[in-house]
Amino acid sequence: MTFTMEQYRASERAVRERLGGFTPKVAMVLGSGLGGLGDEVENPIIIDYKDIPHFKASTAPGHKGRLIFGTLEGQKVAVMQGRTHHYEGYSYEEVSYAVRVLRLLGCDTLIATNAAGCVNTAWKAGDLMLITDHIKMFSESPLRGENLPEFGVRFPDASHLYTVRLQELARQTARERGIPLREGVYFYCYGPQYETPAEIRAVRALGGDAVGMSTAPEVIVAGHCGMEVLGITLLSNMAAGILDQPLSEQEVLDAAEEAREKFTGLVRACLKKM
Ligand code: HPA
Repeated sequence: MTFTMEQYRASERAVRERLGGFTPKVAMVLGSGLGGLGDEVENPIIIDYKDIPHFKASTAPGHKGRLIFGTLEGQKVAVMQGRTHHYEGYSYEEVSYAVRVLRLLGCDTLIATNAAGCVNTAWKAGDLMLITDHIKMFSESPLRGENLPEFGVRFPDASHLYTVRLQELARQTARERGIPLREGVYFYCYGPQYETPAEIRAVRALGGDAVGMSTAPEVIVAGHCGMEVLGITLLSNMAAGILDQPLSEQEVLDAAEEAREKFTGLVRACLKKM
């Protein structure tokens, strides 16, 4: 199914009615276990996904499923506290629906965060990684289907989905705050099973530094509709087969909790400079 412009507009109207003239500029997607930043938004206006037409509920653990509008570090933000994933049964278009609605509401920037497996063996779990690019070539595009020219062109350029200027801003911010920041390529795998060790070797051979089940669909859609994007990954665990231990969701959530301060500190400092 392809959503129509009328459906996007209906969602936009429903949210706008609740905002009382507030216009968000920076959309933020908070990944697994990283949703706490949403609770730090000042003068929040909170809207549950279930109260917005065509929005889908988030069923993943550590994902609350609501939009929080307000101010953070002096920026007008729209925080997606929790996201949906393809593995929950949603199409890529559904997974990235909210990004387009936030674009219609006025957001021109997307900060996408996630927890992901660390493929690069020179790094360690708990590190943060600036996403410089992604690979999502083994699953369909969120832009599949009729193109909606109100958002962008049929064949959008994807040379710089992760905005060079924002990458530099994040690098500089991390340096100033003494936060070590890796940088590399996020490899999208749709899950929900974690990858096999052989798949991780393939991911590494293909140029992936981190592997995860989110972010790439939303970023493709954000790029299509002309948004600038900053992507930051928490490397929550070493990817399958690197350590002699099974992967678990609890490990991912524990790592997110442990890195919370470092992670939210970096995101807040970046926001302040935007
Ligand atoms: N693989 C895929 N997705 C993930 C992982 C992983 O190892 N860790 C957190 N999200």
